[in-house]
Amino acid sequence: MQKISDRPIGVFDSGVGGLTVMREIMLQLPEENMIYIGDTARVPYGTRSAETVIRYSLEMADFLVGKGIKLLVVACNTASAFALNAIKERFDIPVVGVIEPGAKKAIEATRSKKIGIIGTEGTIKSNSYVHAINALYGNRPVVVKEHGVIHFDRYFEINLDDITIFTKACPLFVPLAEEGWVSNDVTVLTAEHYLEGLKKEPIDTLVLGCTHYPLLKGVISRVVGDNIVLIDSAQETVKEIKETLLRYGLESISPSYLQQKFYVTDSPERFIKVGERFMGKKIDHIEIINIGG
Ligand code: DGL
Repeated sequence: MQKISDRPIGVFDSGVGGLTVMREIMLQLPEENMIYIGDTARVPYGTRSAETVIRYSLEMADFLVGKGIKLLVVACNTASAFALNAIKERFDIPVVGVIEPGAKKAIEATRSKKIGIIGTEGTIKSNSYVHAINALYGNRPVVVKEHGVIHFDRYFEINLDDITIFTKACPLFVPLAEEGWVSNDVTVLTAEHYLEGLKKEPIDTLVLGCTHYPLLKGVISRVVGDNIVLIDSAQETVKEIKETLLRYGLESISPSYLQQKFYVTDSPERFIKVGERFMGKKIDHIEIINIGG
């Protein structure tokens, strides 16, 4: 009989972005079996309503739990922002999202107590990082100030007593990363436009609150200045996964087999092309499945 610890870790994202988390898990936990699903038929989640993101996320989680996973990783920031609680309520396996680990690291990293957070429209609107930081920091009163009036320049300042958070949605970073435009002039210009407001603020830490943004680390760092610490949620999330596996006695040691299996809800060819770049390794064992359609 298969040991519970030999069962796979399930990872889901709206598309290819969660492969940044998958890559990190494979690097740090090479003995783990993994199943990944990217909802490529319905990406992006970042511009959708909370209700829709919750419905899609529960369907993704249902699929993975049906495959007998031992732990579920919600690798998508937008899904973590809107659906983590609903998923935790529905399933009785451990569930790890990407927001709390990033929030924890930001608090550890900041000296000035001025933190920037960038993400999709959904993640930023939900204020999930702000709530996570606030919860870890002792639930201070929240005061929100808005800077700028037009879409590109608008960013928010959120005062939690002695910690201040500046948030900004950067939706075009997702297609740029998917296109592989991680360092060209268009990307630099876009980053300058988005980050103009945050750059004026005395932040010393910037949370990359979207699966795709670690791919643009170079450009983002160039634009905001290399004295600002960039927090990569993927790396922090794997620490949380390790701790959770240990806590539940689920870590895989000398597994009887080792496999990474990928599922998508549409266009496996594009997923393979973009995904291999995200992962830095070949994607074998991919299958297309019909969910929600
Ligand atoms: N995976 C999403 C996130 O991290 C980015 C792509 C999307 O909008 O679906 O928020």
